[in-house]
Amino acid sequence: MIIGKSNKIYVQTICRMTVKPTEGPLTSRLAEQLQELSQQGVQRQLLTFFPQGSACLQHQNSTYLNLAGNDYLGLASNLSLLQRFYAHLEQEDLSNNLSLYGLGSGASRLMTGNHDQYARLEERLTRYYHKDKALIFNSGYHINIGLLPALARKGDLILADKLCHASLIDGMRLSEARMIRFPHLDYDRLEQLLKKHNSTAKPCKQQAVFIVTESIFSMDGDCADLSTLVRLKEQYGATLYVDEAHAVGVRGRCGSGLAEEQQVIDQIDLLVGTFGKAWGGQGAFVVCGETIYKYLVTTARSLIFTTALPPVNIHWLNFILPQIQTMSKERKKLGQLGQQLRHGFQANGLQTGGESNIIPVIIGDEKQTLVLAEQLRQQGVWIQAVRTPTVPRGTARLRLSLTANMNTDQLAALPQQIAKELARLKLAPSPAP
Ligand SMILES: Cc1ncc(COP(=O)(O)O)c(C=O)c1O
Repeated sequence: MIIGKSNKIYVQTICRMTVKPTEGPLTSRLAEQLQELSQQGVQRQLLTFFPQGSACLQHQNSTYLNLAGNDYLGLASNLSLLQRFYAHLEQEDLSNNLSLYGLGSGASRLMTGNHDQYARLEERLTRYYHKDKALIFNSGYHINIGLLPALARKGDLILADKLCHASLIDGMRLSEARMIRFPHLDYDRLEQLLKKHNSTAKPCKQQAVFIVTESIFSMDGDCADLSTLVRLKEQYGATLYVDEAHAVGVRGRCGSGLAEEQQVIDQIDLLVGTFGKAWGGQGAFVVCGETIYKYLVTTARSLIFTTALPPVNIHWLNFILPQIQTMSKERKKLGQLGQQLRHGFQANGLQTGGESNIIPVIIGDEKQTLVLAEQLRQQGVWIQAVRTPTVPRGTARLRLSLTANMNTDQLAALPQQIAKELARLKLAPSPAP
């Protein structure tokens, strides 16, 4: 199903879907559920895009400003950098070593897929974060569904921020430990839960407690207070797991993330970063102590039972790491662009928040958010409407993500444009909390 000229056509098209007589009970049940989801404005679909110059994309022959991607440093779409990368591969005598630069690794890391570029990158990550060990997984999703099921066991407790990403939630669900989600950034509530657990835990059972958070939250763009979490984890003997998917490359003087900026890398037990966003590649890593590393290599199912990443991708990550470390100018620019846009939204009476280059504009209603995003697309701006289950029901929003290859002029008109569209569609923005 492709998006229609307007959301109305799109909803009507979906509602007209019928079940063929030959299809069984499952298909008819699914068709009914799809119809319901579509009426609620939460059905999803796959669209095709082509990158188009700096910070833009092309879809069905139209060009849009891309405010929905996570290529935060503009590396994935930087053509001259890509040319340099391939030129650099040729210098490495590509013709004699072609198999080292392949697109398929041929096996999982634990079998024969663990090519030499992995060791090189893991060693460099270890030095970058001053940690004992680094371990690369195929994606942020793989890593987050792998760590907790491997490390947490029955009788353990996982305390997670309510707005943690779906991959973290899936990891908690797959583990046998008990999970409690505390209100977003409410560390008083977290401390109460830690106190309560400590007063009832049986020391002989070696029960572990995990505190799980993102550093920059993916849908709100706000930041965890990692120093407070470190204090709590030390006071209550917990293990701290921080997902820096949206902060690596973007925050910290050397670009290693928010933990670097808040000077707490040493005290984080499991620090996760992803390569698919600011690094412009694919994969994810955790930096941790040696015992945790060895345990993960032996037991993390999403590491063990999947084919290793393509060698050429890890070559790219090795090529890009030193460049990321020096991109302070781009990081500063991202921060400034974010601040300017947030101020613009506030000045136009829109409900926004956060302190990063991810900027939400909260609309509330799922369908209204879809219609608004579609109207903006018709004006050449590609913004994602984010709905349940990605965000809690009733907090549907436009999620704008800025990249360092954008400029002030491209963004200047946006606040007024969105406010005007809202007024035109007679949509009242949700009241500020
Ligand atoms: C906080 C967080 N962790 C993990 C992931 C998954 O990362 P990947 O896209 O590499 O699977 C995402 C994806 O958006 C995310 O926002």
